[in-house]
Amino acid sequence: MEHLNIQLSGHVTDYDIKIEAGLLDQLGQEIQAVYQGKRIFILTDENVDRYYGESVTNQLAAANFQVRKMVVPAGESSKHIDNLDGIYAEMIDFKLSRGDLLIALGGGVIGDLAGYVAASYLRGIPFVQIPTTLLAQVDSSVGGKVAVDLTQGKNLVGAFYHPKKVIIDPNVLNTLTDRAFSDGMAEVIKYGAIFDRELFEFIKTNASREQMMAHIDQIIYRSCELKAIVVREDELDTGQRMLLNFGHTLGHAIEAYYQYELYTHGQGVAIGMVTITQLAEDKGVTPRGTAAEIAQLCEQFNLPTAINKPADYVEILKLLSTDKKNLNGQLNIILLETLGNAVVYPTTTEFFNTLLEEA
Ligand SMILES: NC(=O)c1ccc[n+]([C@@H]2O[C@H](COP(=O)([O-])OP(=O)(O)OC[C@H]3O[C@@H](n4cnc5c(N)ncnc54)[C@H](O)[C@@H]3O)[C@@H](O)[C@H]2O)c1
Ligand SMILES: [Zn+2]
Repeated sequence: MEHLNIQLSGHVTDYDIKIEAGLLDQLGQEIQAVYQGKRIFILTDENVDRYYGESVTNQLAAANFQVRKMVVPAGESSKHIDNLDGIYAEMIDFKLSRGDLLIALGGGVIGDLAGYVAASYLRGIPFVQIPTTLLAQVDSSVGGKVAVDLTQGKNLVGAFYHPKKVIIDPNVLNTLTDRAFSDGMAEVIKYGAIFDRELFEFIKTNASREQMMAHIDQIIYRSCELKAIVVREDELDTGQRMLLNFGHTLGHAIEAYYQYELYTHGQGVAIGMVTITQLAEDKGVTPRGTAAEIAQLCEQFNLPTAINKPADYVEILKLLSTDKKNLNGQLNIILLETLGNAVVYPTTTEFFNTLLEEA
């Protein structure tokens, strides 16, 4: 079993991330270790509920917890702020009080939504993350960022709020679609590219999802560890943590331009990492051949490395300047000094202008 402990300086926050195949089958005792109360409210989505809802509920009931499960539709639309009222209402109806527990059972959408609900309901109640997508297991469940979406944009309302525990069972990844699995791999490739050349090389040696799954607990562990290290040093996201945005500035703009329908988050990030690295090579910041190496690894997991219609960059670059992270014309992008080594590179949106020449 892999075990990580997150400690944040100047904080009461200190929690464990447990990673083990089959952990979901011992859920009762895992929860008892961090929660002595009675009531548990589970928030999950329809897909996850279909596979794991009953077993999770039964195990918690067997451990003498009183459980209420709420199932929301799968997909980003469940993260819209308009849904909060209905969720709080159900919690009130269940008489969930200050010391009672909320469990987030699902991917990043459920983790962000339930995390925000936990941070705000009665000014904050304890919660446990049970991430069920690869993206949630290696990224969104670690770091304490929780959020909901506004009509004007994603993640515009949120908080920094940490769970009591993160319970990761890699077995649940077996029911993921290939697309969702690849999405998570984009973030793993990102960790390798920005922090850990060895991880990058190791991913190369696993040519398929099946091969990757044989080592997935190590991959999840290393990813969580790398994220935990930066979060520990920069909990509120003002410095080091920015490095995690490699590929994301452009990726977010691409996702948003196509209304989150054409490209998933991981696909946007894959295109973003390859494209920005190519631009950085042209400007002499990143050594030649780096973009091609990242592209090859993305292709290994069926991730796209360029947008289909370069002409769309005219509009996509306009979106870049309205991103909440690029206020006052300044833009901090993340580039690779070498593979495995990222730096913050202060620039403006003009950095991307050569993309328009191809458009
Ligand atoms: N808080 C953070 O730091 C952070 C970081 C990255 C992304 N995010 C957020 O995460 C969200 C994306 O997360 P995601 O990619 O996990 O999407 P998701 O939660 O929508 O899950 C993807 C799909 O997989 C299904 N699913 C989940 N687990 C499954 C399983 N074990 N078996 C079968 N199907 C399963 C879901 O129902 C959904 O249809 C976005 O809203 C993004 O903003 C947050
Ligand atoms: Zn991401």
